[in-house]
Amino acid sequence: MVCLGNICRSPVADVVMSARVAEAGLDEVVEVFSAGTADYHVGKGMDPRSAQTLTAAGYDATRHRAQQFDHAWHDEVDLILVMDHANHADVTAGRERARVRLFRDFDPVDAGGEVPDPYYGGEEGFGEVLDMVERTSAHLVGLLADVVGR
Ligand code: 4NP
Repeated sequence: MVCLGNICRSPVADVVMSARVAEAGLDEVVEVFSAGTADYHVGKGMDPRSAQTLTAAGYDATRHRAQQFDHAWHDEVDLILVMDHANHADVTAGRERARVRLFRDFDPVDAGGEVPDPYYGGEEGFGEVLDMVERTSAHLVGLLADVVGR
């Protein structure tokens, strides 16, 4: 899961998708982690507004530490899910990369959009991110279950 700062959007996608994977009994075969294309916040916990939104919904927001995206991962991970088109451009650096997709390509309600950056906006933006991430993660875990045959 990749966004710009790895403190607002991709940590939410990481925590929620990890929870769905564990609930589906897929945590032995599917590993989820997150990163930012920028190094601004490396080593820090998530934005307090993301943490508050996750905690209120019953998730553990305490374990996240921001890290920067490593281009070596192109050869090491199966799927890189980016939150917006700028993340896509930064991650692919102009190359065709079949394994890099918009996270919301898997949104079952409104596919193909961006997860909008809530960093400079109000609290409501964080709730909207959680809504998109929860429905997309629920759909995505079903697809992964099919892929791994569970
Ligand atoms: P994120 O949000 O990419 O969802 O983590 C942002 C976090 C920090 C900044 C921008 C976006 N920033 O400019 O510091």
